[in-house]
Amino acid sequence: MTNYKDKIAVVTGAGSGIGKELALALAQKGCRLSISDINSETLSETVKAIEEIGVEVIAKTFDVSQRKEAFAFAAETINRYGGADIVINNAGKALDSIHVSKMDIEDFEYIMGINFWGVVYGTKAFLPYLKRSKEGALVNISSVFGIYGIAGQSAYCTSKFAVRGFTETLRMELYVEAPQLTTICVHPGGIKTNIARNSKEAINDDRSKDDNELRMKEFEDKFLVMPPSRAAEIIIDGITRKKERVLIGRDARRSDLLARIWPSKYSRMILRSLEKAGILNE
Ligand SMILES: NC(=O)c1ccc[n+]([C@@H]2O[C@H](COP(=O)([O-])OP(=O)(O)OC[C@H]3O[C@@H](n4cnc5c(N)ncnc54)[C@H](O)[C@@H]3O)[C@@H](O)[C@H]2O)c1
Repeated sequence: MTNYKDKIAVVTGAGSGIGKELALALAQKGCRLSISDINSETLSETVKAIEEIGVEVIAKTFDVSQRKEAFAFAAETINRYGGADIVINNAGKALDSIHVSKMDIEDFEYIMGINFWGVVYGTKAFLPYLKRSKEGALVNISSVFGIYGIAGQSAYCTSKFAVRGFTETLRMELYVEAPQLTTICVHPGGIKTNIARNSKEAINDDRSKDDNELRMKEFEDKFLVMPPSRAAEIIIDGITRKKERVLIGRDARRSDLLARIWPSKYSRMILRSLEKAGILNE
């Protein structure tokens, strides 16, 4: 993308973390924004910050896992702006670490609803308009956990692998249908956001609140290191340079390499490092 001025940019999950920083950075570049989040309070803070930058913004509070609401959001965006040039399906949620054997299927469905179906709905709802953009970009946020599987995170990993599969498939189709469109799959490593703090408590979790708080704090301190503003910068650089796959952070690049060189051996290697860090539990 060469010019951001007056482009229409859509960002879900814009109330916090990477989504918020993306919305602000795109506003700084002169885009008009349509943003959403399930949390109306944090969403209005982002709206206020965008208004202070001085560009147009509309906002909708809804749950991305609700198909009708996702399509209504697209309709409202098109009614207001008449099109969409950048769509970033960013909203996402984690689940507290729990093994498959213990996990309630409801938790699995909940995470898939947001992280996978939310991305599919967001993509489908905006795709007809994106295809009309002269130099549009569809950006779906996967994760480093869309590259390798990690114990305790089956639902999250599955949802993020699914986002990758969906996005990479669609990309090939769009080469034929809309070659001017860039389809980007983003794999962030550890970014210092509220993702761990906002994670859903697993239904069958039998750990105490204090134990969970301690584990989360340890995870945040050890793994969530890059500021979200830097992650947003890297994603926007990817849009500018039409990069179809964006890895964010040294940890993401290292894991990507590991999973490609040792596609099955990596499981034991990562298990050992989790054991060493003391953050593995059954
Ligand atoms: N932080 C990381 O280390 C990291 C790493 C890899 C991938 N990611 C992905 O990046 C994306 C952004 O996450 P973040 O790290 O900024 O976390 P965050 O928790 O700070 O922000 C996520 C935002 O999504 C919103 N959200 C959650 N569920 C929603 C729903 N059902 N409908 C609408 N909005 C909803 C939240 O309210 C929040 O504002 C997510 O898809 C996440 O999975 C994050």
